[in-house]
Amino acid sequence: MKSIADLGDLQGKRVLVRSDLNVPLEGSSITDDGRIRASVPTIQALSEAGARVIVCAHLGRPKGTPEDKYSLAPVAARLGELLGRDVTFATDTVGESAQSAVEAAQDGDVVLLENLRFNAGETAKSADARAGFAGQLASLADVFVSDGFGVVHREQASVFDVARLLPSAVGGLVETEVGVLRRLTTDPERPYAVVLGGAKVSDKLAVIDNLIQTADRLLVGGGMVFTFLKAQGHEVGKSLLEADQVDVVKGYLDQAKERGVEIVLPVDVVAATEFSAEADHEVVGIDAIPADRMGLDIGPKSAELFADRLADCRTVFWNGPMGAFEMAPYAAGTKVLATALADITTDGALTVVGGGDSAAAVRQLGFSDDQFGHISTGGGASLEYLEGKDLPGLTVLEES
Ligand code: 3PG
Repeated sequence: MKSIADLGDLQGKRVLVRSDLNVPLEGSSITDDGRIRASVPTIQALSEAGARVIVCAHLGRPKGTPEDKYSLAPVAARLGELLGRDVTFATDTVGESAQSAVEAAQDGDVVLLENLRFNAGETAKSADARAGFAGQLASLADVFVSDGFGVVHREQASVFDVARLLPSAVGGLVETEVGVLRRLTTDPERPYAVVLGGAKVSDKLAVIDNLIQTADRLLVGGGMVFTFLKAQGHEVGKSLLEADQVDVVKGYLDQAKERGVEIVLPVDVVAATEFSAEADHEVVGIDAIPADRMGLDIGPKSAELFADRLADCRTVFWNGPMGAFEMAPYAAGTKVLATALADITTDGALTVVGGGDSAAAVRQLGFSDDQFGHISTGGGASLEYLEGKDLPGLTVLEES
């Protein structure tokens, strides 16, 4: 895989950079700019090398046509602030606005194209359907830099096809991310624990399957834990439950036992009458979840147990919040967990926080990025890497 340095002198060259600038927005306000900040060093370095930098990215999941609410305009403004220089925003992806912005760009200038997913060719399933758009993107530039780690698991025009059309290199963010994930998959320092949370267990089945072979401990919280508790025979009231996955999860629990992997589940939960910060809520043991309540966070005894099982770990990967952290009454579990991770980071353990939700959670709860070993910008991408899957956006760069 080539690095940016292998692309040679970039002075005056048009460099197309695929970044992942898919940030959460409330209206046009960015609520967590982590992915933009993580993308700045590569863009900055290219600009300082005298390149004409053409950044392309997606936001949300529009269906191949422009929609105002998915415009990257607010991101262009924030990117400019962080870079400390003007960013020219093209109001289309490969049309007149993009072409004239690229033509007008001087050495060192930065252009951001509008949301790639406003063009149906970006996410089309068939390579033929993507080819036209990939060709148009490639015609804007001389070389391509792949720096959107959060999308390297997507076989999409700007991630995959364009890399076959231009001399291509991996950007610094992707290099860092892959370097950290490699440390998790190649002989991690032990004990190695993985903490999984978030809503859906079905999204995480493949990674659980793989982690049972490699991790020493698996701690489970968040909405997905109720399928585990059900598999252990507990009643879960109105909590999130994927009834069709209970048997699969039972199989994992048996497999973990056979392999000596410790599965750590909550012993208590915060149970509320409804999914609301104002709802009546109480801490109950996992064998006493009332039929008319739903678990929205792990309870204090569980948080203590989780912190204890992490205290001696040398490597931890965490994906998914422990509860509905965006509502204050259900944030404590996630906060205790983040504190436990920050503490062992100080002691020299490698801690990796993966996924947009977990990254947003730790920032929203007042932690800073440097309290953890690494905050990954990729949720799906980091999970697929840990599953051992081939990631198209990386495989294609190995060919170049
Ligand atoms: C993400 O948010 O994980 C990445 O930006 C990828 O987005 P996607 O899941 O819509 O492809």
